[in-house]
Amino acid sequence: MRAACLGGGPAGLYFAISLKRRDPSHDVVVVERNRPDDTFGWGVVLSDETLDNLNANDPESAGLIRNDFVYWDDIAVHYRDTVATSTGHGFCGIGRKRLLNILQGRARALGVDLQFETEAKDFDAYRDFDLIVGADGVNSRVRSSHVDIFKPDIDVRACKYVWLGTHQKFDDAFTFIFEETEHGWIWAHAYQFDADTATFIVECSEATWRRAGFDRMGIDEAIAICEKIFARKLGEHKLMSNARHLRGSAWLNFNRVLCERWSYRNIVLLGDAAATAHFSVGSGSKLAMESAIALAGYLHTESSMEAAFRRYEDERRLEVLRLQSAARNSTEWFEDVERYLHLDPVQFNYSLLTRSQRISHENLRQRDSAWLADAEKWFEKNATGRTPKVNRAPMFVPFRVRGVELKNRVVVSPMAQYRAVDGNPTDWHLIHYAERAKGGAGLVFTEMTCVSPEGRITPSCAGLYHDEHEKAWKRIVDFIHAETDAKIAIQLGHSGAKGSTQVGWETMDAPLASGNWGIISASPVRWSPDNQVPREMNSADMGKVRDDYVHAAQMAVRAGFDWLELHYAHGYLMSSFITPLTNKRSDRYGGSLENRMRFPLEVFHAARAVWPDDKPISVRISANDWVGPDGITPQDAVAISRMLVEAGVDLIDVSAGQTSARAKPVYGRMFQTPFSDRIRNEAGVATMAVGNIYQPDHINSILMAGRADLVCLARPHLANPYWTLHAAADFGYEGAAWPKPYLAGRDQLYRLKSRAENMTGKV
Ligand SMILES: Cc1cc2nc3c(=O)[nH]c(=O)nc-3n(C[C@H](O)[C@H](O)[C@H](O)COP(=O)(O)OP(=O)(O)OC[C@H]3O[C@@H](n4cnc5c(N)ncnc54)[C@H](O)[C@@H]3O)c2cc1C
Ligand SMILES: Cc1cc2nc3c(=O)[nH]c(=O)nc-3n(C[C@H](O)[C@H](O)[C@H](O)COP(=O)(O)O)c2cc1C
Repeated sequence: MRAACLGGGPAGLYFAISLKRRDPSHDVVVVERNRPDDTFGWGVVLSDETLDNLNANDPESAGLIRNDFVYWDDIAVHYRDTVATSTGHGFCGIGRKRLLNILQGRARALGVDLQFETEAKDFDAYRDFDLIVGADGVNSRVRSSHVDIFKPDIDVRACKYVWLGTHQKFDDAFTFIFEETEHGWIWAHAYQFDADTATFIVECSEATWRRAGFDRMGIDEAIAICEKIFARKLGEHKLMSNARHLRGSAWLNFNRVLCERWSYRNIVLLGDAAATAHFSVGSGSKLAMESAIALAGYLHTESSMEAAFRRYEDERRLEVLRLQSAARNSTEWFEDVERYLHLDPVQFNYSLLTRSQRISHENLRQRDSAWLADAEKWFEKNATGRTPKVNRAPMFVPFRVRGVELKNRVVVSPMAQYRAVDGNPTDWHLIHYAERAKGGAGLVFTEMTCVSPEGRITPSCAGLYHDEHEKAWKRIVDFIHAETDAKIAIQLGHSGAKGSTQVGWETMDAPLASGNWGIISASPVRWSPDNQVPREMNSADMGKVRDDYVHAAQMAVRAGFDWLELHYAHGYLMSSFITPLTNKRSDRYGGSLENRMRFPLEVFHAARAVWPDDKPISVRISANDWVGPDGITPQDAVAISRMLVEAGVDLIDVSAGQTSARAKPVYGRMFQTPFSDRIRNEAGVATMAVGNIYQPDHINSILMAGRADLVCLARPHLANPYWTLHAAADFGYEGAAWPKPYLAGRDQLYRLKSRAENMTGKV
């Protein structure tokens, strides 16, 4: 085969090597515009795992790369006059120039024709080749020449960065340095890659970059300013640029590239040309070289070039998506870093280490158990004012708000049971809630409990608008208080436009087959063409609904509930006022966010006035309508939360969606937690995170990183009411209270867990 690799970076060179290794008879040319030695950039990070892959593909070059590797295990974070160092992270680095020189030498030895100082621009020149590999980097010309076929999605990220180098030593740790300047925060990612040189990437927000005047400076002036900013860490050493070839500024915005197709006829894209990974997860070269191995391999194992391209693309796209998802989290963390710069250094460090969400609490324990133990101690001291003698996982640290102390931070999320009769909770409810309270969670929520018969979602929803309801709820609350140390919260709501519909396991949100009742909402906007058009509320309706909430709250006080939550999410009545998708009013309750929040705030104030001072009120909101800028966005959710907290709300329960039938939610593990993170850290309020959180490890990571104060689990508690007690047993945590009649079960469970751990060598 005659193959032309356009671009002699890691992708092009390593592909040429891999192809020749598989069949020396191939005629392979690498065309590179630069000279062999004038490679730009500094160090490249590869993992041990990548090196094993390289070794299996070509032991000769892998051996040379390994010989030149600089290893380091620690990550040091310099922030607010502190240096937090954790270990066990295991990185290795090599100079980009050294790496390319090794690959060039190896390619030459295998008979690859290396053509330097040759610009590939006229692709017709390569029409006699069987295969053309577009390995020409992030700004690939090969890609641009067939842009309609490859359909690149290029996401230009917000921060400005510049790749610099220094002879200051950062050989003991991968180092992050955050410096506050008069123009804003500027930070550096620094790592050693040979005996006397380190990469030093300087990064900041575009606003800071402009305020500092970097947009108007040449590279020498910019370097001089950066040297001043980082002087304390650079010592006497200078910063150096080797990107003077770049037209205009050496400062860049990272381009996240992902092509829809990676091949066309006999042309295939490889490395940065096909897909990039942000430098903060250090995987660009790894991706490029591992993709080169896959492509060369499939060209030999598959029956045709077309089949080889298909296998290559299928396999590598999955890997790229995985990495790009982690890289996106990491990129966004740096873009939003100003949100976290008020955090204590311990929490800031934890947040940074777990930013990509690939590293969790238990991963950190494996990497550096001593560091994690100190961090857990800090968490407990910060929360309770006491330094613990024996550490416990963050999920078991109590949480206090007003006069209520929760024994831990696991919450049973509100879940409609559709088992009430005329709004009356039944024995089902007694048993259901009692089981969850016995199961170890610190706080158990009731389902959305409706403030009036017409405010119910379905005929089987629970209510609190009748003396009988109060009595039935009191029986449940009394049992939980007498038999467990869990607290119980009532969630009050009104269904609005989603009322008079079928129970959850029938057709959710669809009208009843018969017996529908009239419904009200902020505006006459129906949920779907099948639903009734709700009547727009007038002031008498508003007065009635407000009084219904007050009445229900008074009954909840008498029933003994510890905590009140107002349900302002998921498209129900209060939510219909908040989101512009369903609030089309032209009076003082519609229009601006202030106006749309007016009625929900009036209801809150009225409820707060009758709710005991020493008991908290939380509000559940939909922090994202998932319809883009037409609806509530995560940014609006911060403004909503600020208004609620200013009014006296104690905690925001951060849910999302269910406000519009045209929403396009992006699901995934912990998918709503970023909204809680944003609200907590931008508005400075206590939050509860919810949504696809199902492992103790998730909860501990969320809490320790300061992304929420409490964590709600819904479906996991349907599957296992004893979820928290089992999590405690997994941690060997002895402080979780089991009901006395169940102690024998506890002892056996702990014994079995500890035996299993001994057998697997965990202890
Ligand atoms: C300037 C620069 C510096 C970098 N520095 C670092 C670093 O220090 N550390 C790190 O981890 N990552 C660095 N990266 C990112 C990382 O190297 C890439 O993810 C990785 O190199 C991807 O490999 P690649 O071969 O696909 O692309 P590249 O490494 O970008 O290689 C593409 C090659 O194609 C050549 N080329 C482009 N167009 C043409 C053309 N028309 N004709 C001929 N040749 C052409 C380029 O000169 C280049 O050598 C850097 C990237 C760039 C562009
Ligand atoms: C059966 C069921 C009923 C629910 N009922 C309510 C409810 O009454 N009020 C509410 O705010 N959320 C309700 N939800 C949403 C949950 O509280 C929670 O936000 C959602 O299920 C995501 O959490 P999970 O991934 O842990 O299940 C319900 C969820 C389920 C599964």
